[in-house]
Amino acid sequence: MEQQRKKVTVPDVGRMKAAGERIAMVTAYDCAFARLLDEAGVDMLLVGDSLGMVVQGNETTLSVTLDEMVYHTRLVSRGAPHALVVGDLPFGSYQAGPTQGVESAIRLVKEGGAQAVKLEGGLTMADTIERIASVDIPVMGHVGLTPQSVHRMGGHRVQGRRHGHAPGGRERVLEDAKAVEAAGAFAVVLECIPLDLAGEITAMLSIPTIGIGAGVHCDGQVLVLHDLIGLSNAWTPRFAKRYAEVGREVVGAASEYVQEVKGGVFPSEAQAFQPQKPTAVGE
Ligand code: KIV
Repeated sequence: MEQQRKKVTVPDVGRMKAAGERIAMVTAYDCAFARLLDEAGVDMLLVGDSLGMVVQGNETTLSVTLDEMVYHTRLVSRGAPHALVVGDLPFGSYQAGPTQGVESAIRLVKEGGAQAVKLEGGLTMADTIERIASVDIPVMGHVGLTPQSVHRMGGHRVQGRRHGHAPGGRERVLEDAKAVEAAGAFAVVLECIPLDLAGEITAMLSIPTIGIGAGVHCDGQVLVLHDLIGLSNAWTPRFAKRYAEVGREVVGAASEYVQEVKGGVFPSEAQAFQPQKPTAVGE
């Protein structure tokens, strides 16, 4: 008999690290894809502010609003009976201080249905993580390449390659990761850092590390949906792997449709309603 799948919880994610079970996370932005990813067995769905780039077509994530994140989190929550849903706090929704962070996190949970929230930053965000966690909203940290800091970094660049305690330095990434754990986060995303540094952090922390462009030593991995399934024909980052070419499938299907409409092939009799027979639309 097939075992009943239960909803993944925050404590489950910690247990997975302890048991050496790797964690699979993917981004999602709507209910249709959330359902498919949930069915595929993805452990966590991240409603990422990458929304601004892959869905809204912007150059950065900076313009995404909290209202937009609440809306998309609600859509994803509806399609995720099993996966843990993590809502991303967008730029400007927590940087003003811990109180703002708590208020924004409450919206993602209360209106969006998220089970946890994610925010970017280490040492400088420790107070905010602590305050959000203190009202029982689980927090996922995010260190290394933090896309909301794009202007400070001078682009989306690999972090932790050079030594130093200044932002972007190897020692600083380590300190950021430690600070995130000490502040009470239940997991931390490590984005675009060298794989040996990710391995060192993963061994050092008791909370799971979820890597993106951080190599194989992390406790789990996250990919942006559009990269994973080839949903756009645009550039894919080097660290991502395209497991399908859905974008090409869509172009193929839509071009066939266009040709059939223009050629009078679609709709055929099979898709038409006859005047004499009363039928429901679905029959
Ligand atoms: O917004 C996002 O999709 C993310 C992932 C890249 C981790 O933060």
